[in-house]
Amino acid sequence: MEYRQLGRSGLRVSTITLGTMGFGGIGWATPVGQIDVEGARKQVGLARDAGVNLFDTADVYSNGLSEEILGKALGSDRDEVLVATKARLPMGDGPNDAGASRHHIIRSAEASLRRLGTDYIDLYQVHEWDGQTPLEETLQALDDLVRWGKVRYVGCSNYAAWHLMKALWIADRKGLTPFVSNQLYYSLQARDIENEIVPAAIDQGIGILVWSPIAGGLLSGKYRRDIKPPQGSRHLTEWSEPPVYDEDKLYDTVEELVAIGEGLGVSAAQVALAYTMAKPAVTSVIVGARTEQQLADNLAAADLELTAADVERLDKVSAQPLPYPFWHHLNVTERLSPADLTLLARHIKG
Ligand SMILES: NC(=O)c1ccc[n+]([C@@H]2O[C@H](COP(=O)([O-])OP(=O)(O)OC[C@H]3O[C@@H](n4cnc5c(N)ncnc54)[C@H](OP(=O)(O)O)[C@@H]3O)[C@@H](O)[C@H]2O)c1
Repeated sequence: MEYRQLGRSGLRVSTITLGTMGFGGIGWATPVGQIDVEGARKQVGLARDAGVNLFDTADVYSNGLSEEILGKALGSDRDEVLVATKARLPMGDGPNDAGASRHHIIRSAEASLRRLGTDYIDLYQVHEWDGQTPLEETLQALDDLVRWGKVRYVGCSNYAAWHLMKALWIADRKGLTPFVSNQLYYSLQARDIENEIVPAAIDQGIGILVWSPIAGGLLSGKYRRDIKPPQGSRHLTEWSEPPVYDEDKLYDTVEELVAIGEGLGVSAAQVALAYTMAKPAVTSVIVGARTEQQLADNLAAADLELTAADVERLDKVSAQPLPYPFWHHLNVTERLSPADLTLLARHIKG
């Protein structure tokens, strides 16, 4: 297993993180998995044996049950690993049961600590942009949590590039703890973040933690044109993330993944993970698994390196149109920053 520094922090994180959205599996998380404490212990054991040192959860996963199960599964080994959790999404119907206010952030952190059975959170992430709470208030609350010893690093999730830049600017201006990471959806099914969020992360030294790197299973090789996926698979339910805007392109991408996987004697899921793991600014891919077999398969991707030719095939089949102003930059500018060049390189190649 390779370990990478999380952004510009000194924290070293395994390139694979274990996601725990399927721990518990009640409410909207039911289609993700119903992993109980025993199942979680097995997943945590498999992951740790493979060298995984980061475990990602959120208060909102099964209304706190995922945190409880993760805490129990880690048990007395908690200090040997890194625990990331999140707050901001609704945890109740009250007017202050959601959002990134000082009130909700501090109350949520304290509740997460209780559920996880720990006295510190390694990485505390704002789960989603909150356009109503002043960022100064959110960042001050996070900074206080760090100063009180309850949180060690802070990150954001699902932040657009301008959200991130605004937060970094305020933290710098006010001397508050800055975000070290942004947790984002990124996969061969949708490479949207390459347009602005990845260049911003490269420029600012922010680590990207990738959620749903195999698109919740869509890139695993079991969803093919005219082939029925196995019963119980998440995407046979009402599950709506990620949205698929171009089914043909998805199936073309899966065909390439399967072909490359067959050539290498590995699964399509492993190829998809290895591709994403190798992309600029990516620190770690957060894998989810309904079964131990799936997890073992995904963990094996840690050792998989794709050839430049295979990466190019995948770049090409999954390429998305370059939005404005980037197509104009490409047409008329010869003076681009290294971050911009990373973004445009795929289009020059393609
Ligand atoms: N920050 C956020 O907003 C956010 C949002 C979503 C997730 N997350 C984090 O990201 C983690 C991972 O998300 P995810 O579960 O959507 O990720 P994923 O790794 O893209 O998808 C996992 C799902 O794909 C299927 N699968 C996994 N490995 C497979 C394999 N080797 N072969 C065949 N099928 C396989 C399983 O579903 P089936 O068996 O049902 O097909 C599994 O539940 C979560 O646990 C959570 O920690 C964060």
